[in-house]
Amino acid sequence: MKVFINKRIPEIGVKMLEEAGLEVIFPTHDNLPPEEWLKYCQNADAILNVGHNKFDRDFFGQCPNVKAIALYSVGFDHVDIKEASQKNIPIGNTPDVLSRATSDVAFLLMQSVARRASFNFQKVKDGNWGDFDPLHALGQELYGKTLGVFGLGRIGFEMAEKCKKAFDMKIIYHNRHHNEEAEKELNATYVSFEELIEQSDVLSIHANFVPDQKDLFNASVFEKMKPDSIFINTARGGFHDQKDLYEALISKQIWGAGLDVTNPEPISKDDPILELSSVCVLPHIGSATIEARNGMAKVAAENIIAFTKGEKMPNCANPEVYNI
Ligand code: DGY
Repeated sequence: MKVFINKRIPEIGVKMLEEAGLEVIFPTHDNLPPEEWLKYCQNADAILNVGHNKFDRDFFGQCPNVKAIALYSVGFDHVDIKEASQKNIPIGNTPDVLSRATSDVAFLLMQSVARRASFNFQKVKDGNWGDFDPLHALGQELYGKTLGVFGLGRIGFEMAEKCKKAFDMKIIYHNRHHNEEAEKELNATYVSFEELIEQSDVLSIHANFVPDQKDLFNASVFEKMKPDSIFINTARGGFHDQKDLYEALISKQIWGAGLDVTNPEPISKDDPILELSSVCVLPHIGSATIEARNGMAKVAAENIIAFTKGEKMPNCANPEVYNI
């Protein structure tokens, strides 16, 4: 059985696949153009995919040999899940192992924005340390403030727990379902979307992205948020309208923004949002720790191996395939 992996991943996952007797194929060079990538996919039985290559109806039509895909990500917004399920192709993903790392980045962004860390760091790099000034570049403290979590799953829970423990923040959330564990352990309160945006001092997105939520956080949302609120997005850039976010920041409808994901991605270096002292942007590094990336390699390999043994993938984004 041939498994195509489009980019090097931590060795632990490759070793697992090889020890399971699978033929692992890597491309001969990095950054494959789409046609070459497709050729590799066409020759594979299973794919372990790094990044956001699109797996849509077109892809499945052109790669009839592909029988399983293990994503090297928790998110699966680049996959047409309905189409994959219709074709009986399981799509594996990597939840849990990156929840700590990703929520750490949300927490880091929250603090960076609250204390204007990247703006102040830039001043130092520019040789502009400046005199002690009682009124300049003041941040805000987070103690006792309200964290609003949009999408309280595993990553949202970790973020909420950190905020509760570090700053005794009050936790409110909006989700498809109630999260009983968060209500019990963190005293989290379920609120409507309107209440979430109106009451949050820090609003942090941790939901799975679905196309009908594109630009959900737009001008009409930002204008209802508190003027001293901080917007954090570590989920998917598609959730926010970046021009509206910029306008909301410069017109002081909100106080600051921390983004690990941008819209579009990657962000242009000329995007005016990067000039703002109230913003911190990172290049989608949520899961970029040794621990999380090793964990993702292991989980992705486990998904492929389970598939080759005719077993259910332990982490599957479309478990319905097993009932077809
Ligand atoms: C994920 O795992 O979904 C990360 O955002 C990387 O794509």
